Amino acid sequence: MTQQSEAPSPSVADTVRRDWWRDAVIYQVYPRSFADGNGDGMGDLQGVRDRLPYLRDLGVDAVWLSPFYASPQADAGYDVSDYRAIDPMFGTLHDADGLIRDAHDLGLRVIVDLVPNHTSDQYDWFRRALAEGPGSPLRERYHFRDGKGENGELPPNDWDSIFGGPAWTRVADGQWYLHLFAPEQPDLNWENQAVRDEFRSILRFWLDMGVDGFRIDVAHGLIKADGLPDVGSAEQLKLLGNDSMPFFDQDGVHEIYRSWRQILDEYDGERIAVAEAWTPTVERTANYVRPDELHQAFNFQYLGTHWDADELRAVIDVSLAAMEPVGAPATWVLSNHDVTRHATRFAHDVHLGTQLREAGDRELGLRRARAASLLMLALPGSAYVYQGEELGLPDVVDLPDEVRQDPSFFRAAGQDGFRDGCRVPIPWTREGSSYGFGSGGSWLPQPAEWAGLSVEAQTGDPGSTLELYRAALAARRVHLGPEAGEELRWLQLPDGVLGFVRGDLVCLANTTAAPVRIETDGRVVVASSAVPPVTAGLLDLPADTTVWLAR
Ligand code: GLC
Repeated sequence: MTQQSEAPSPSVADTVRRDWWRDAVIYQVYPRSFADGNGDGMGDLQGVRDRLPYLRDLGVDAVWLSPFYASPQADAGYDVSDYRAIDPMFGTLHDADGLIRDAHDLGLRVIVDLVPNHTSDQYDWFRRALAEGPGSPLRERYHFRDGKGENGELPPNDWDSIFGGPAWTRVADGQWYLHLFAPEQPDLNWENQAVRDEFRSILRFWLDMGVDGFRIDVAHGLIKADGLPDVGSAEQLKLLGNDSMPFFDQDGVHEIYRSWRQILDEYDGERIAVAEAWTPTVERTANYVRPDELHQAFNFQYLGTHWDADELRAVIDVSLAAMEPVGAPATWVLSNHDVTRHATRFAHDVHLGTQLREAGDRELGLRRARAASLLMLALPGSAYVYQGEELGLPDVVDLPDEVRQDPSFFRAAGQDGFRDGCRVPIPWTREGSSYGFGSGGSWLPQPAEWAGLSVEAQTGDPGSTLELYRAALAARRVHLGPEAGEELRWLQLPDGVLGFVRGDLVCLANTTAAPVRIETDGRVVVASSAVPPVTAGLLDLPADTTVWLAR
C-alpha cells in the first residue's frame, strides 16, 4: 500500500535553504548507462540533461555524476586524461554547462566526481614522465622507483593492486611505477607541490562552472606511508577495510582536505565534498568530515550490512555516534557503480559480499530491497540513491564474459571483478532497441524482463518500486525535513523488527520472513509492501516490510 505524492515538486526556493546537504537525497548518475542522447549506444550528458525533469519529479535534491572527463576509458572514466575537458563520447563543456544550468533551474544541485588518487597513463604529465626518463621532475609527480633484485627485476614492494596482480608496472627504462588500481591508472605523488597546486586549480575550474560539490574518488588513498613499506601479507586484499594499510587512510590525507575546504568555502551557495573513503571503522571515516575538512563521507559499513535487524541497528548506532563528535551528518547508501545491486545482495539468505554472480531469489531480493530503501530514507542524514535502484533493478549477474568491460574482471584475483552487472543501461520504456535508453542500442546487453521494470511500465502503478520511491521522497520532504532533527529514538520491538521515531513519523522494519504483530498507533504514510491499517493499536507488519506511520 504505497501512497501518491503528498508534496509538490521541489522548487528553486527549496535549494536556498542553509545546510541543504545535511539531509539531501543525492542521486548517482553513471553517465554511460543513464540515457543516450545521440544514439551511439553509450549514455552521455545530453541524455542526462533530457532526463533532469524525471529526477526533479522523483524528488531528489542533487545529482552526482560519475566521471565524464576526457579519458581512454581503461576504468570507465576513472582514468582521467584531462580534468578540464569532457570526453567526446559524453559531449562537450558546452553540454556540461547546459546541464548544470538546467539542473539549477529545476532546483537540483550538481556534484561531480573528482579523481585525485591517480591519472590516466595518457595524462600529459605521465607521458612526459615516461619520455623524460629517470630523474625527471615529472617522475616526482608519480611514484617511480627502481626495482628490487639483482637487476631491479622485482617490484619495489609487495603491494597488490585492488584490481588484482602487483601494484607496480615496469617501464622500458627499468623503473617501476605504482598503480593501486589498473596499470593505466598511475598513482600521483601527493607529497609533490605541483600535484597539490594542480588539483586546487581543477577544483576552482569546476566551482567556477557552477558545480555544487565533488565526490572525491579514493579519498583515502592520496598519501602513502613513508618509505612505501611492505604490507607483509600474501592475502592483503582480504585485509582491506579491516586493517590499516600503508597505502590507505594515512593521516596525511587530512591536510589536503583542509586546504580544499578553504577553497569550497570561498564560493557561495554551500559547495560540498563527499569522500569515498574506505576505512577500517566508521570512527576513522569521521576524520574526513571534521568541521574544517569534507562535508560527508560514504558509509560503506552500512552498504556492507545484510538485511538483519540487529546488524542494521548496530551499524546505524555506530554511524550516528561516530559522526556526532565531528558534527557531520551521517550518510547512508545501499548501491553504487562498484557493488552488486542491493536487490540482488538481499536475494540471498546469507551475506555473500558485494560482488555476486548468483541471482538468488529475485522476488525476495526485491521485497527486501524495497524495505531496505524505505528504512534508509527514514534515517537522519543524507542518503544516496544509485540510478536504477528506484526501479528495483536486480544486478545482471549473467553477462557473458565477452561483453564485460570492467578492468578488474580481467585481472585475476582482484577485489572487484563483477561490477559490469550494476552498470547495465537502465530501461526507460517498454519497447525499443534499448528500452528507451537511446536509439542506438546499449553498450551492455539489457535483460528482456527489464521492459517491465522500465520507468514507463512503473509510472502510475501504485505497487511499483518507482512509485514507492516517489511517495517516500515526497513524504520525506513533508515529515523528515530539518525540523525532524538529526536524532532518532529507538523503539523496543520483537526480535527481527527495527523501529524508531523521527519527527512525527514512526518507521518500522520487519526483517524476518514472517509477519509480526506490533503495538503502535498512526496512519500508514508509505509502505514497502501491502500493509493493513493499524487497528485497535495493533499493526500486523508483513515479512520483509518497512512502513512509515504518521502520528
Ligand atoms: C573508486 C571508483 C571505482 C574506480 C576506482 C578507481 O573506487 O568508485 O569505480 O574503479 O575508484 O578510480
